[in-house]
Amino acid sequence: MTDDLIIAPSILAADFSRIGDEVKAVDTAGADWIHLDVMDGHFVPNLTFGPPLIKALRPHSQKCFDTHLMVSNPDALLAEYAAAGSDIITVHAEACPHLDRSLSHIRELGCKAGVSVNPHTPIDGLQHVLDRLDLILVMTVNPGFGGQSFINAMIDKIAATKAMIGHRPITIEVDGGVTADNAGKVVAAGACALVAGSAVFKGASYAENIAAIRAAAG
Ligand code: DX5
Ligand code: ZN
Repeated sequence: MTDDLIIAPSILAADFSRIGDEVKAVDTAGADWIHLDVMDGHFVPNLTFGPPLIKALRPHSQKCFDTHLMVSNPDALLAEYAAAGSDIITVHAEACPHLDRSLSHIRELGCKAGVSVNPHTPIDGLQHVLDRLDLILVMTVNPGFGGQSFINAMIDKIAATKAMIGHRPITIEVDGGVTADNAGKVVAAGACALVAGSAVFKGASYAENIAAIRAAAG
């Protein structure tokens, strides 16, 4: 989609009691995308939210809504996630036995199509669906919770993903444990969209937090 650096704050780390204001705050603070972590208590142990919350947040920001579906059967609700206002819908390869069809469906719904891979999942199978893809999300933690430590072995996986996509217009996104301390090597390996939850929603200034990650990414 783009090679420009994208900072995508994950609202998982926001204050859920003020979620609309939190989305507005990171929008104003310089977020490029808003990352929305959907968890079903089955694919991952945690539970978060679904289409109604995304719909309710939509008026609070004009930025790209980047919906990350950590759910076991994403196909069942793809149309609802699109109708709620998602711009990108990312499914997990591990949850999609018919990934080619799922990705095609996302595009038919008018959204950009993303696929995510857990840390242990090889990227090899993705080479057969590259023409269906706008984004590959490399998980750099085991999904389910914010605030975990970045898995350093994923740097090689990001680089392998970059080599696999070649010159195709596919965005490499990275999610989990991203901070100003590791943003530089993540981008050097080939990522251009950085999800950050706890590194953004902390302290007194979200703008400074986003700027620090952007500066470190180079
Ligand atoms: C993890 C989620 C992430 C998470 C990132 O399962 O997909 O988007 O919110 O949070 P941090 O940046 O705190 O690791
Ligand atoms: Zn996520």
